[in-house]
Amino acid sequence: MTHPVLPTTELGTGGPLVGVQGLGCMGMSEFYGPTDSDEALATLGAALEAGVTLFDTADMYGFGRNEEFVGPFVRANRDKVVIATKFAIERSEQDPTRRAVRNDPAYIRAAVDASLRRLGVDEIDLYYMHRRNPDVPLAESVGAMAGLVEAGKVRHLGLSEVTGAELREAHAVHPIAAVQSEWSVFARDVERSAVPAAAELGVAFVPYSPLGRGFLTGAFQDAGKLSDNDFRRTHPRYTGDNAAANGELLAPLREIAQAHGGTLAQVALAWVHQRAEVHGLTVVPIPGTRKRSRLAENTAAATLRLTEADLALLEPVSGRVAGDRYADMSNTSVGRE
Ligand SMILES: NC(=O)c1ccc[n+]([C@@H]2O[C@H](COP(=O)([O-])OP(=O)(O)OC[C@H]3O[C@@H](n4cnc5c(N)ncnc54)[C@H](OP(=O)(O)O)[C@@H]3O)[C@@H](O)[C@H]2O)c1
Repeated sequence: MTHPVLPTTELGTGGPLVGVQGLGCMGMSEFYGPTDSDEALATLGAALEAGVTLFDTADMYGFGRNEEFVGPFVRANRDKVVIATKFAIERSEQDPTRRAVRNDPAYIRAAVDASLRRLGVDEIDLYYMHRRNPDVPLAESVGAMAGLVEAGKVRHLGLSEVTGAELREAHAVHPIAAVQSEWSVFARDVERSAVPAAAELGVAFVPYSPLGRGFLTGAFQDAGKLSDNDFRRTHPRYTGDNAAANGELLAPLREIAQAHGGTLAQVALAWVHQRAEVHGLTVVPIPGTRKRSRLAENTAAATLRLTEADLALLEPVSGRVAGDRYADMSNTSVGRE
């Protein structure tokens, strides 16, 4: 039995109390190559023991199978786990490349019932709109989400990949506890509008892919060589010439990790926490891992404090990254800014 290493924080004003680092569960069912389910399940338990309480899934991960995978664990630890899931990205198993973004109230009401059923719980602690469809008025979508809170199906609301303006508009309809968007040493576009708006409104930020989908840890050099069904094989930043150029940018992370006797992953996680201090907002990054060893490494990052000199070394990195965060940026916040 390890001792909890993580302090807790409020996830947005009036939001739930959670460990300062969460766990991304997506890779346990899809996107990052083959998974050992027993080890993934053990990782969920080890996370809880280490003080991780925010567990992140979505209805689209593994076409619902990720919610089904974490469901028994959530139910067995219902009083300790804060389960977050998401709606909006409609997929079809018949055509896995197809994606539609649905924000209409009828879709939201059906999606929540399906997620509750797959998770096997009465209430979702944090329910995010995964992507924004600008054709649907935001007030309509957030109004429908607020209806789920009134109906007792959802406790808190969140948004993913929204701009600062969209966050303000949504928060005026119903309090938003958290924004979940990509934020890392390599991905800092959110610092332009979403992060300042969240800080101003008392909304917490949940950085996803804080390890740059694993690239920032040095675990792989070129995603083009990963297993056949790995989503990163076509990622603009982590394949081909861009991957080679971006690999060079890891040098300062290596140098800092060595100086602190830590790892690249720990430096990347400590950086997100300290950037949030600069912006004056609460962050709960959700690094994804399916392995207990990496979980222990990542939670230990909570005790790493980077120096001003370290932060200065990392400051120019994101400006030099080659390639976009996604092949198609139209559904990201920066794509609408
Ligand atoms: N809202 C959104 O649109 C959105 C988008 C993407 C992700 N997410 C959420 O955010 C979570 C985290 O993001 P992510 O999984 O995309 O990326 P990430 O956390 O940046 O990186 C995950 C990758 O890094 C590896 N890894 C983790 N810890 C490591 C360590 N200490 N050393 C070496 N490698 C390590 C993992 O492999 P192993 O599993 O093999 O350890 C996995 O391949 C997801 O699980 C998901 O819940 C949300």
